[in-house]
Amino acid sequence: MSGLKKCMACICGMVLACQVYAQEENSFVHEQSDGYEWPTDKAVLENLEKWRDQKFGVLFHWGLYSVPGIVESWQICSEGWITRPGEYTYEGYKEWYWGLANVFNPTAFNPEQWADVMEDAGMKYMIFTTKHHDGFCMFDSRYTDFSIAKGPFAENPRRDVARYVFDAFREKDFMIGCYFSKPDWHCKWFWNPYYATPNRMQNYKREQHPDWWAKYQDFTKNQLTELMENYGRFDILWLDGGWITGEEVYLDDVLSKARAGRQQGLIAVDRTIKGKNENYQTPERSIPDRQINHPWESCITLSHSWAWAPGAKYKTSNEVVNILAEITAKGGCLLLGVGPTPEGIIQPEVEESLKGVGKWLRANGKAIYSTRTTPYYHEGNVWFTADKDGRTLYAIYALPENEVLPGTIQWTGNVPEGNMVLLGNGRKVGYKVVGEQVTVMLPKGLKNESVALQFTRKR
Ligand code: GLC
Repeated sequence: MSGLKKCMACICGMVLACQVYAQEENSFVHEQSDGYEWPTDKAVLENLEKWRDQKFGVLFHWGLYSVPGIVESWQICSEGWITRPGEYTYEGYKEWYWGLANVFNPTAFNPEQWADVMEDAGMKYMIFTTKHHDGFCMFDSRYTDFSIAKGPFAENPRRDVARYVFDAFREKDFMIGCYFSKPDWHCKWFWNPYYATPNRMQNYKREQHPDWWAKYQDFTKNQLTELMENYGRFDILWLDGGWITGEEVYLDDVLSKARAGRQQGLIAVDRTIKGKNENYQTPERSIPDRQINHPWESCITLSHSWAWAPGAKYKTSNEVVNILAEITAKGGCLLLGVGPTPEGIIQPEVEESLKGVGKWLRANGKAIYSTRTTPYYHEGNVWFTADKDGRTLYAIYALPENEVLPGTIQWTGNVPEGNMVLLGNGRKVGYKVVGEQVTVMLPKGLKNESVALQFTRKR
């Protein structure tokens, strides 16, 4: 593609990005499924317990949509709630979008920098989009040429980008997750060019074209298998696009083969498909309203968008800390959405916000990592977590944005005995108990941010 065309693609993208800003807020979100089934495989159960200790992870969305900085994949889906720029016909728009494959050239690709930033933020696990709904592969798939490894980046020694992303995080002992979209809008056996594509589903009747459907099923199963076999050890297989079930793409076969091989204990997350292959639930862009004592994770974006978007606003460090405190007290993990830039780095604004989270976690991480829930877990701005022994408790005062840390913190119940320590500086703090009511006196001069206290619960 010529320089001029490249430039046009980017300008278009900037304009689009502004238009989708508002739209993304109410874009499609996966709800939480309405039930949970504990897995029976011992190795999976063990890995799940280990994962529940991690608490804080990152979900990277990186793909064609990152080039212009628009919503991930959804603009090529013709459902009513999606707005495209006015001047495009639907077909014209799709053509422009597919053409981004000829432009995407992340010459600054630096997964080691991603891993440094996320480690410094206190994150412990990562999930990477190997393929989003648009079908563009961020790995060198044997089954399609529609991938980062075949465009302008083909000559780069790191063209098989997923491999390098996973390895950079393995190097830092993160738990590793593979995001994969079951629906594939580029695969002709899913969206066949013979018909229009009115919505997210395959665009034909399965009874009418059983051969197409079978080819789509095989294609998907083959790609999942190649990821599980050729990209190293995974802890989590995170499957998006719950309008197609794992069963429809032979997930059981993929999993049993993978778990019998190098992926022992692989946690399967067939999102929103309640049952044996949804080993944890994934409420999206929201936090459940109460404590839940089976494995779950909220996936929430750091900006308004999963992918990189020009001019985005990011949550502050304190906001992220407060979200993490609430989720931990309710028994879940936080998977924070971050979009690397089209050039392939994590930009300074993201780094800035995450740095503060890491700093807070280095001082207060005891109240988060490896904790479990405690029955009385919340009062006002205070969230309670517990060590696995159930007697050491943590109270996190989540300071609301734009408020000043109060001189005293109060709650009823969870009565302490003995010393109470402020994790931020490791010093004892004074408190008094009247009946069931606890009042903690915070020392003066503390930084204006959320604080965490450690104490032993009275028997
Ligand atoms: C939804 C969206 C998808 C996004 C995912 C992240 O499933 O369809 O675009 O990747 O959420 O949680």
